Amino acid sequence: MAAALARLICASADLQNGGRAWRFEIEQADGAPPLSAFAVRYRGQVYAYVNACRHIPVELDLRDGEVFDLSGHYLVCSMHGACYEAHTGYCVSGPCRGQRLIPVPVSEQDDGIYINVPAP
Ligand code: FES
Repeated sequence: MAAALARLICASADLQNGGRAWRFEIEQADGAPPLSAFAVRYRGQVYAYVNACRHIPVELDLRDGEVFDLSGHYLVCSMHGACYEAHTGYCVSGPCRGQRLIPVPVSEQDDGIYINVPAP
């Protein structure tokens, strides 16, 4: 198993409950273009997903980082309105109902949000 390093993606304070998402990229090992991803805070916990709807692979946010609906509970696709649970990525309504966003493992420590990336 390859070693992994923690990469800082943003400060803890950059994520507010139900607030703007923090966008970042994930480098791919095979030289493919980096994946767009985002992190959000929901009920105090941080969650991150690949920024691609499960209906058609377009980014969820219409404007950078705007993914929460007005209730602050669901992540909404700007294209056709699919609603995903913020804490599971499960789609509860819309054309891709029953599917899930692709999760990105994140951790929060020392006032920062980190993802694990393969060691060089
Ligand atoms: S592309 Fe997201 S709901 Fe259609």
